Amino acid sequence: VPALSDNIVWHESSICRCDRQQLLQQKGCVIWITGLSTSGKSTVACALSKALFERGKLTYTLDGDNVRHGLNRDLTFKAEDRTENIRRIGEVAKLFANVGVICIASLISPYRRDRDACRSLLPEGDFVEVFMDVPLSVCESRDPKGLYRLARAGKIKGFTGIDDPYEAPLNCEVRRAEHTGHDVSCSPRQMAENIISYLLDKGYLE
Ligand code: PPS
Repeated sequence: VPALSDNIVWHESSICRCDRQQLLQQKGCVIWITGLSTSGKSTVACALSKALFERGKLTYTLDGDNVRHGLNRDLTFKAEDRTENIRRIGEVAKLFANVGVICIASLISPYRRDRDACRSLLPEGDFVEVFMDVPLSVCESRDPKGLYRLARAGKIKGFTGIDDPYEAPLNCEVRRAEHTGHDVSCSPRQMAENIISYLLDKGYLE
């Protein structure tokens, strides 16, 4: 985490988080969807935001690819830039959650330490880590953007899962397992329902 500059003083707001949440009639939290490229993060994020919208809940999705078009357009895929990408998205997600929005962050976020740092920004329980547990071989066989092929050919350096690490969560709140052979996979819609069940169970939805 970058050091704080000198002479910076925190100002308290006159409206607190609970006032805003009461106005909005919902509890804010962060749904953090992590996994390899083409593991289905964005599809699940999309299904989840739709399902929550249908329940009358306000969400906002921060998609890694999209945020890299604006706020994070200065960042590469070097380890320190990925860390900064994750840190900024974690901070923005926290702002949304503070408003009372259910913020869905969908990015590879390959390093455990960085995800844990985002978790620590929020009150206990407000960070829901969702792991798209899809084997590399499955992601690679999909390859809609042809990026795995380029990475295998050495034309993209430092591609997650190929020549850059992905550290799977150890204690995620929700997991989507997908295995070839004895298939226990579920559809994005079903996965969205699993996340909603978790939120209902924990009192984030009524
Ligand atoms: S990270 O690791 O969290 O900072 O990555 P993220 O912001 O989610 O961006 C991932 C998307 O960028 C494309 N891309 C790469 N991914 C991984 N490694 C390298 N080197 C790379 N270069 C470009 C890729 O299409 C990812 O898209 P998704 O949506 O994850 O498939």
